[in-house]
Amino acid sequence: MTTSDRKIEHLLLCVEKDVEAHRTYFGQRASGFDDVDLVHDCLPEINKKSLELELEFMGKKLRAPILIASMTGGHPDTKAVNTALSCAAEELGIGIGVGSQRAAIEDPSMEDSFRIVRDKAPNAFIYGNVGAAQLNEFGIDGLERAVEMIGADAMAIHLNFLQEAIQPEGNVNATGCLEAIKKVCTELSVPVIVKETGAGISHSQAVAICDAGAAAIDIGGLGGTSWAGVETFRAQKRGDMLSDHLGRQFWNWGIPTTVSIVESTISIPVIATGGIRSGIDVAKSIALGASVCGVALPLVAPALKGEKDVVDKLILIIEELKVAMFLTGCRTIEELGSAPVVVSSKTREFLEQRGFDTGRFARKKKIMERSN
Ligand SMILES: Cc1cc2nc3c(=O)[nH]c(=O)nc-3n(C[C@H](O)[C@H](O)[C@H](O)COP(=O)(O)O)c2cc1C
Repeated sequence: MTTSDRKIEHLLLCVEKDVEAHRTYFGQRASGFDDVDLVHDCLPEINKKSLELELEFMGKKLRAPILIASMTGGHPDTKAVNTALSCAAEELGIGIGVGSQRAAIEDPSMEDSFRIVRDKAPNAFIYGNVGAAQLNEFGIDGLERAVEMIGADAMAIHLNFLQEAIQPEGNVNATGCLEAIKKVCTELSVPVIVKETGAGISHSQAVAICDAGAAAIDIGGLGGTSWAGVETFRAQKRGDMLSDHLGRQFWNWGIPTTVSIVESTISIPVIATGGIRSGIDVAKSIALGASVCGVALPLVAPALKGEKDVVDKLILIIEELKVAMFLTGCRTIEELGSAPVVVSSKTREFLEQRGFDTGRFARKKKIMERSN
């Protein structure tokens, strides 16, 4: 199966099947968001109509702290999907990532399905995407072509060794990966985001990624789309018993998104993806340390319908975020970053066993003076 065929198969499986992680503890989601409470402010003393959601992220202005996470391109049928997503990003003033550009680096006739994103979103923050396992194969020249293809503001290097380990054609040689990332961070013409894809990033790897020169970390935590899950369905279709078995065993493997945000919040911006399903999840992520959030799976079905459905879905998330900000008395995204949160249950246990002081989130104070 070609890279291009695999991309369209992934997209369709994500709408036809339940591909989310489903590890629940005491009924809580695997992402850990149900273990995190924002503290209600009964006297917010701000006007909800004066909330400011804008922020500067990696040199560009976003009208809300939301990115359409890296998803697709690389098959002719994905052009319409990327059109819907990029038109929505432009309309709402948010950022957008494209899916892995591998198919277009290997076959330039696929470039169209990526180029359309810059055509339709001339002002948006757009980031490219390539797998860590392909860095040496493509070299800096290949990556510069990927940057040029979409006028990228940044390039995401994705880490997906869980998925690679489950698919029979997977690239499981992870040696030299960090060195290759370091080289790209030093030599590429745009800043680099190092991105997981559903299994999360822990503190020591976040430090290594930061030391390698990455400009941002996308933690891609456990709790949303499970790539082991997607591979399970692919394996079942072709009757591959081994991949089917491995996919089911590792369906819920990884570091929950909430935990990974805390583990990875060091000195460079953190993008939270993996199970962001509402504006309340966005607010919690930012209060835990993330700068922005990425949403993938909830936008797949709307994107297959068209721009309006994508915009409607994202507006709901933005409106939820606004209510959460109002009810925590946070007028700006910066203030939300210092909103108090209480972390309980499994997420608290996980963080405390890993040496993090969960009490510090509950004690956090707003840093900016309020104005009415
Ligand atoms: C259909 C689909 C395709 C994806 N393709 C890519 C990809 O090519 N590169 C990548 O880095 N992540 C890819 N992802 C992962 C997302 O960017 C995101 O990290 C992950 O799905 C978790 O977010 P979610 O729970 O909102 O889906 C894809 C996700 C989906 C749903």
